[in-house]
Amino acid sequence: MADESQKWVLMVTAQTPTNIAVIKYWGKRDENLILAINDSISVTLDPAHLCTTTTVAVSPAFNQDRMWLLGKEISLSGGRYQNCLREIRARANDVEDEKKGIKITKKDWENLRVHVASYNNFPTAAGLASSAAGFACLVYSLAKLMNVQEDNGRLSAIARQGSGSACRSLYGGFVKWVMGKEENGSDSIAVPLVDERHWDELVIIIAVVCSRQKETSSTSGMRETVETSALIEHRAKEVVPKRIIQMEEAIQKRDFATFTHLTCADSNQFHAVCLDTVNFLLNVSQILMVCLIFRIISCVEKWNRSEGTPQVAYTFDAGPNAVLIARNRTSTSLLLQRLLFHFPPNSETDLNSYVIGDKSLMEDIGIQDIKDIEALPPPPEIKGKVPAQKYKGEISYFICTRPGRGPVLISGDSQALLHPDSGLPK
Ligand code: DP6
Repeated sequence: MADESQKWVLMVTAQTPTNIAVIKYWGKRDENLILAINDSISVTLDPAHLCTTTTVAVSPAFNQDRMWLLGKEISLSGGRYQNCLREIRARANDVEDEKKGIKITKKDWENLRVHVASYNNFPTAAGLASSAAGFACLVYSLAKLMNVQEDNGRLSAIARQGSGSACRSLYGGFVKWVMGKEENGSDSIAVPLVDERHWDELVIIIAVVCSRQKETSSTSGMRETVETSALIEHRAKEVVPKRIIQMEEAIQKRDFATFTHLTCADSNQFHAVCLDTVNFLLNVSQILMVCLIFRIISCVEKWNRSEGTPQVAYTFDAGPNAVLIARNRTSTSLLLQRLLFHFPPNSETDLNSYVIGDKSLMEDIGIQDIKDIEALPPPPEIKGKVPAQKYKGEISYFICTRPGRGPVLISGDSQALLHPDSGLPK
């Protein structure tokens, strides 16, 4: 191509949410295609608080596929990236941008290279399923750039090859990842159960315990579980299939009591199979985290029991962060008071960075500064059983959020992460 024609850059920017499983995926039947040994169900989190934004660009001037995560260049040579890129390229179609005078034919895509820039609006290392939002956004934005004519279900099967949990980030609301039966994984896709408006009373609070990178990756952790746990087969074959049916029904009916029972039980069983895994060695810092998990569980369970009907469900992934799902705004106020009472910030912490996301919840409970937290009375269910334990500074921060929508395209170049002229990070 002549020099002049090499100048154009065509870009697409998209935003994709993260998700948290209420019935967990743990264990693969195919490591390369990423096929699960059981179905799973997740809730998509509001992208206003937790999402990935990705810009993908193509230009005849690019000589290799490149990617920048939070401004730092990372390698795309890994099998998971390569699988996603190959699958999307294979489905590319003709693209024409009349204004810019660009015409790309289906065949051209084989020889055109892409640049990718990605950014999370939450700490990547906090163990908050950043790979889920990341791969979902990579696949979704590339599909739009390359004019791939497939629905989000088919795209989910490609995102799944980047990271299993990523397939569920292609939809908002509650989403099921159907494990599928086919060897080639063609029926292992995400399906939307209900959208984010169906159960919009729910409020989600994430207690971020530690912003360090997880020490054991989910990938190797679940491999060890499949190879060594005697419990995992029982979980995948007997327990989860029944729970999936019950959970779908609870979600359809907005039955919070059943939802809570299933969510907590599944989180606990997921941790039970982790403990049943050989080589699942805990170092001292992880043991302290486990203690913290139990403190949060105990705080939630005492309160649920004292209320008679459950007010909040808890679930923990492979990292120590707690995800707490409250039945409505009233229970969220009561939950937040309890959390702040038991887990107050260090005195030097800025309250603005201690509770982030939907800050209006703090207004509901009239907390404006650290002194208001210090003045919180012990929750009634622990009164008389004093000394009430306080674990100051053990939580890094709380994120207040809610069920959210699926991926969207962002129009215009102002929010793009790549420069429209050079295709390099801004
Ligand atoms: C505990 O999707 O991160 O969060 O497929 O190997 O990339 P890979 O694993 P990943 O595992 C997530 C496991 C989980 C449960 C869940 O999200 O369902």
